[in-house]
Amino acid sequence: MGTLSVHDLISIHDLTAQDIEKIFQKSIELKDALKKGKETPELKGKTLAMVFEKRSTRTRISFEVGMTQLGGHAIFLSRDDTHIGKGEPIKDFAGVVDGYCNGIMARTFEHKTVVELAKYAEIPIINGLTDFNHPCQILADFLTIKEHRKSFDNMKVAWFGDGNNVCHSFMYMCAKLKIDLAIATPEDYKPSQKVWDDIKSYKKSEMYWTATPQEAADNADVVVTDTWISMGDPEYQDPELRKKKVDHFKPYQVNKDLCTHAKENYYFMHCLPAYRDFEVTPEVIDGPHSLIYPEAHNRLHAQKGVMALLMK
Ligand code: CP
Ligand code: NVA
Repeated sequence: MGTLSVHDLISIHDLTAQDIEKIFQKSIELKDALKKGKETPELKGKTLAMVFEKRSTRTRISFEVGMTQLGGHAIFLSRDDTHIGKGEPIKDFAGVVDGYCNGIMARTFEHKTVVELAKYAEIPIINGLTDFNHPCQILADFLTIKEHRKSFDNMKVAWFGDGNNVCHSFMYMCAKLKIDLAIATPEDYKPSQKVWDDIKSYKKSEMYWTATPQEAADNADVVVTDTWISMGDPEYQDPELRKKKVDHFKPYQVNKDLCTHAKENYYFMHCLPAYRDFEVTPEVIDGPHSLIYPEAHNRLHAQKGVMALLMK
C-alpha cells in the first residue's frame, strides 16, 4: 500500500477518493489483526501529541489506545497544560513539538488553529474536531457504513439538525464518494457556503438542503444527526440561549415518525455525545436501527489507519 496524497488530515476535502479507500483498507487490516490477537507495532517508538482545547470522550480515548496498539505512545495536553492557552504562538509550539513527537492530533475551537499548526509543523497534523470539520469522525462513520451495508452504491444519507462541523464533513465525504445527501436544518443553521463552493468541482451526486425534515428523510438509507449544542457555541454555556435553540430545532428531532419516511432497513448514526429527547428520541438511538456503538468503536480503527499511513 502506498502512502496518502496528503501530509496532514485537516479536512476530508483534501483527500482523494483513493486516499479514502486506502484509509479504509488499512483500518480494516489493523482491525482484523487486532481481532486475531496479532500485534501491529507499526508506530513503535513514536509519539503522538494530543492537544485538546475542548472536552472529549471518544477522540481522546481512541487516539491514545490507538497509539498503544500501534506500539507507540500518546501525550494528552489539555488547553491549560501547555503555554498555547496563555498565548504562546502556534508557530513556536509546532516548531518545538516537531523535535519531540511524530505527529500532533489537535481538537481546537477555531479551524484556523489546526491549519496554522499544519503550516508550521513538519510532522503530520490530524484534526480531532474544529468548529468547521470533524474528518476522523466521518472516516469512522463511513467505515461503519461500509461494514454494515457492504457498498456505498445507490445510497442516500439524510442529515438532520445543525449544519455545522460534522455536517460539513458529511458533505465533503458524500461528494468525494458520490453519495446522495439531503440536509434538513433550520433556515438560519444551513451548512457553510464555503463547503458548497468547495464541493462544486467534484460533486457528482445529488446534494441538497431543505427546511422540511420529512423531505430529507424520504427513502433514506442512513439517517444522521448530531447534538444541537456544539462545544464553543454560545448556547453551550448559557441555559437560556440553550432553551431557545432547542425549541427552534424541535421540528428536526429524529424520532420514530420521521424515520417512517426512511427505507425500512435504514441505519441511524450519531457521532455522540447524544442528548436523548432533544436531537433524537431513545426509541431511535437505542433501537434496532442504531449503529452508535460500532460507529464509536470504529473511531479507534479508522484513526489507527490514518496514523499508520501518515506517521510511519
Ligand atoms: N464524537 C466525538 O468526537 O466524541 P468526543 O467529543 O467524545 O471525542
Ligand atoms: N458538533 C459537536 C460534535 C461533538 C463531537 C461539537 O462540535 O461539539
